[in-house]
Amino acid sequence: MSLPAVANAIEKVRESVAAARTKTLRIGLVPTMGALHAGHISLIRAARAETGYVVVSIFVNPTQFGPREDLSRYPRPLDQDRSICGSEGVDLVFVPDVATVYPPGFETFVEVTQLQKVLCGPSRPGHFRGVATVVLKLFNIVQPDTAYFGQKDGQQARIIQQMVRDLDMPIEIRVCPIVREPDGLALSSRNQYLDPEQRRQATVLYCALETSRRLIDAGERDSSVLLGRMTELIRSDPSALIDYIAIVDADSLKAVDQLEGTVMLALAVKFGETRLIDNLKLSIPRL
Ligand code: PAJ
Repeated sequence: MSLPAVANAIEKVRESVAAARTKTLRIGLVPTMGALHAGHISLIRAARAETGYVVVSIFVNPTQFGPREDLSRYPRPLDQDRSICGSEGVDLVFVPDVATVYPPGFETFVEVTQLQKVLCGPSRPGHFRGVATVVLKLFNIVQPDTAYFGQKDGQQARIIQQMVRDLDMPIEIRVCPIVREPDGLALSSRNQYLDPEQRRQATVLYCALETSRRLIDAGERDSSVLLGRMTELIRSDPSALIDYIAIVDADSLKAVDQLEGTVMLALAVKFGETRLIDNLKLSIPRL
């Protein structure tokens, strides 16, 4: 396995992508913060299958972390990430410094004003502004044909789709399914913060979503019944602290009382200092 080229500078990325374009290759971009796991790898594989030149960006973006969040302790296993990219046939790994992305005097941000207000928005002020801004910059630097995101961060994916639509960016956004551990826990770089006891309890997020899925399959359409059941289940675990549990329209992300069309069941739960999110997107069949 050969290691992929690494670019730290924007110019180098532009040159490499331009060279790929002269060979009429389609460009795929997978934006990440590194500490790559099977969730990220599923996006890389989708990009590899659909595009001719795959760029993975690895950048722990400071503007999307709150002052009391885990920016400094976020894992950064760069050598391991690079070798994963090598085994997955990635063409270029873009690893910029903070000063490359945010040089002194940087002052422009982009906000998706309504979609950023709900779900994770209230407990992570400024988070989606940081995400949208860095993704917009990555799109401008790489200029991909297609960019790959995970449904794991369902609100983030929806915000990026909206940004691309509102700002007329000629980029296709692919949203890939959530990759889970065998016991249902959604893969996340933050799972490694959990101690063994918290790790066992963390499956309660998936259990709550699956319980709702079964009730929906049996004909339940009332959000309050499902929210009540999920809340009860998660509260039965004394170490789990609920941030939110919501059932929203998958497009507007606004809460719905009755389930119809495409909806997202979404939750955020803290175990100690570690905040986990998960969701289930469903097309509701008419009864
Ligand atoms: P990060 O958390 O590294 O995730 C990078 C991409 O991998 C995101 O699109 C995320 O939804 C996807 N992903 C993570 N876990 C997944 C799983 N279990 N199954 C499927 N996909 C999964 O999300 C970010 O980084 C950042 O906010 C970023 C978009 C890079 C901007 O800084």
